[in-house]
Amino acid sequence: MVGNQVKLNANGQDFDYPVLSGSVGPDVIDIRKLYAQTGMFTFDPGFTSTASCESALTYIDGDEGVLLHRGYSIEQLSEHSSFMEVSYLMLNGELPSKAELSDFSHTITRHTMLHEQLATFYRGFRRDAHPMAIMCGVVGALSAFYHDSTDIADPMQRKIASHRLIAKMPTIAAMAYKYSVGQPFMYPDNNLSYTGNFLRMTFGVPAEEYEVVPAVEQALDRIFILHADHEQNASTSTVRLAGSSGANPFACIAAGIACLWGPAHGGANEAALNMLKEIGTPDKIPHYIERAKDKNDPFRLMGFGHRVYKNYDPRATVMQKTVREVLAALKVNDPIFDVALQLEEMALNDPYFIEKKLFPNVDFYSGIILSAIGFPTTMFTVLFALARTVGWVAQWNEMISDPGQKIGRPRQLYTGPTQRDYVPLSSR
Ligand code: CMC
Repeated sequence: MVGNQVKLNANGQDFDYPVLSGSVGPDVIDIRKLYAQTGMFTFDPGFTSTASCESALTYIDGDEGVLLHRGYSIEQLSEHSSFMEVSYLMLNGELPSKAELSDFSHTITRHTMLHEQLATFYRGFRRDAHPMAIMCGVVGALSAFYHDSTDIADPMQRKIASHRLIAKMPTIAAMAYKYSVGQPFMYPDNNLSYTGNFLRMTFGVPAEEYEVVPAVEQALDRIFILHADHEQNASTSTVRLAGSSGANPFACIAAGIACLWGPAHGGANEAALNMLKEIGTPDKIPHYIERAKDKNDPFRLMGFGHRVYKNYDPRATVMQKTVREVLAALKVNDPIFDVALQLEEMALNDPYFIEKKLFPNVDFYSGIILSAIGFPTTMFTVLFALARTVGWVAQWNEMISDPGQKIGRPRQLYTGPTQRDYVPLSSR
């Protein structure tokens, strides 16, 4: 590196590329002119060394286990803030005043109802459909129901679409659940908090009053905060890439939901709990640890490892504490929690996991809490999507507002056949 330039010698010629610095974190080499100057691309499948955009939302230091939203640590936010406040912070850049928070919460609350026709849309799904499949469909369909907020060139429409998405996601998620268990859909109740309302729409029935348990409401709100945003992960990058073509926000968030569903991403919480249940008792842990280490066995410890964190995921620390609180509040003694604690301890003392810097991630403990609250495993990723909608929407807005924004269009290293002549069927 020379000053704030990086020198590249290609085909016997020297080229200088500027080095850009953010407010914190690694510098980046600006290679935007690389292809024009050298005729070469960079090759980085999985984007392990590529910064795809400039962002002021979330910062992660994977080596130190640090996660900041707009500069505030996840530990402080999950301890002192609320999901509504974090949503405001993500969208607006600063913590709200009392009046701003009350105004924002009021606005979100007034957007929680769904177009009545959407109830008919739900009825088109099979009863046993996975709620993530329903979620992808319904969120995509929002663009057919809310045309008046799909003009992405209009900042007011972008704002309304953002509020609608954050507000309607709990209603959509709860209805997906209700549909799967054959119970009537519950309308939102504006007297309740964002999270309390979601709990009532999920577990309440029209035949009787639903009482929100404060400890559960608080724990779930904290889980939402922990999942609100996470920098340029796969689903967020999907939302940005979809949005880069000018697609409407409902379509972009539906794309993000589809990506999140995968077991290597948001689906890991469901997979982690299923794995812990399969292990069942502490005596079986060594067998599963051996399987995870075996190169010839595709089994991985779900809820372990992370592309960015090469240290304890700070969200997992908060989550572990929250498990204890929820189990105590609900007076649940879950033997699976003991399996999880012992599995973590054994893995963290095993040379394989130490050497590869594999630590529990946010998904390792979340399933135990969600299951104690009463959510079936199929709903876990839905809850992740509900919370991550805030991050997706904030990232999408940031991208659209960027004057330098371009359509995302990666290139490739082509390894297929070179040009050849078509052979008619009769001659093959
Ligand atoms: N169990 C056993 N070995 C593992 C695991 C694991 N959970 N995770 C990574 N490894 C090994 C992997 O086999 C590889 O070994 P080697 O270098 O010998 O080939 C090495 O560690 C590096 O793994 P990688 O797959 O190249 O790393 P990555 O950064 O591409 O993958 C990951 C990150 C999260 C996909 C991966 O750790 C994983 O599959 N974990 C389990 C699924 C999971 O818990 N996902 C939730 C992520 S956090 C929530 C979210 O962001 O959505």
